Amino acid sequence: MKVISKISQMQAIMKQERMNGRTIGFVPTMGYLHEGHLTLLQRARQENDIVVLSIFVNPTQFGPNEDFDAYPRNFERDEQLAKKAGADYVFYPDVEEMYPRKMSVAVTVTERVNVLCGKQREGHFDGVATVLIKLFHIVTPDRAYFGMKDAQQVAVVDGLVHDYNFPIELVPVETVREKDGLAKSSRNVYLTETEREEAPALYKSLKLAKERIDSGERNPEAILSFMKDYIQTHTSGIIDYIEIYSYPELKEIDTLEGRIIIALAVKFSKARLIDNMTWTV
Ligand code: PAJ
Repeated sequence: MKVISKISQMQAIMKQERMNGRTIGFVPTMGYLHEGHLTLLQRARQENDIVVLSIFVNPTQFGPNEDFDAYPRNFERDEQLAKKAGADYVFYPDVEEMYPRKMSVAVTVTERVNVLCGKQREGHFDGVATVLIKLFHIVTPDRAYFGMKDAQQVAVVDGLVHDYNFPIELVPVETVREKDGLAKSSRNVYLTETEREEAPALYKSLKLAKERIDSGERNPEAILSFMKDYIQTHTSGIIDYIEIYSYPELKEIDTLEGRIIIALAVKFSKARLIDNMTWTV
C-alpha cells in the first residue's frame, strides 16, 4: 500500500493504472476509520482491481461553528486499518495541496439540499460537492463507494454524477451498526457513558416506525409524532429534526408510498448523531 500526498503524483499513478486496464474503486473519507469505512473498502476490494482510499478532513464542508479543528484525526492508525482492509493507495493531501488559493469557480448544490442536514448546515453540501469534484478528477475512479448512513450525501452525489456526466458508478452501501443498533460514526467517541447507552434508541425509533408503516400506517405526521415521543422518552438528546421524504428526490410526501426515507438528527452534549432508513413502501 502506498501513501500519496501530492495531486500530480496521484494523477500520474492513476493514469498508469488505467493504461494497464485496471478498474479503480474509490472510497472518499475524512479518516478516523471505523468499521463503516472499512466495509466500503472491502466492498471496493471485491469489485475492482485497484482500491483507492482518500483521507482528507475537508474544510469547505464545515461551517464556521462546526468541528473542523476538533474533528478526530489519527493517520497512523488509519494507515494500518487501510492496509489490513486491502487498500492499494491512500491519497492523503493537506489543505494547502487541495486548496492552494481561493477557488475561482464555486459549486452550489441546488436540489436535495434544502431539507435535513442541508437545511441545518448551510453550504455543507456545496463543500462536499466541491471536494468530490476535485477528488473524482484526481482519482478517476470507475466506482465510488458511499455509505447510506449519510443518505442525503448519497442523493447529492447521485445528482452531481448525473448532472456533470462523471463516468463513475455510485455504489451506496448499507449503514454499518454497533451490536446494539447505533450507527458507527467517528463522532460516537464524543458521547458520554449515559448518552452512549441512550443512543441506540435512535435506530430503535426508526425500526418501530418502519414496523408501523409496513403494517399499514400511511400518515407521515402520525409516524413523526410517534418517533418524537419515543426519542424524547428514551434519550436526553435534543431533536434537531425528524423528517420523511421521497428518496432520493427528498421531496415532501402526504402519503407514505414508493421509496421513502425517514431521517433524524439528535444533539447530545458533545455530538450530533444522524441516522436514517430508506425503503420502498
Ligand atoms: P466521512 O464522514 O469520513 O465518511 C466517509 C464515508 O463513510 C461516507 O460515504 C459515509 O457515508 C461512510 N460511512 C460513515 N459511517 C458509516 C457507517 N456507519 N456505515 C456505512 N458507511 C458509513 O462523508 C464524508 O466523510 C465526507 O463528506 C466525504 C464524502 C469524504 C467528502 O469530504
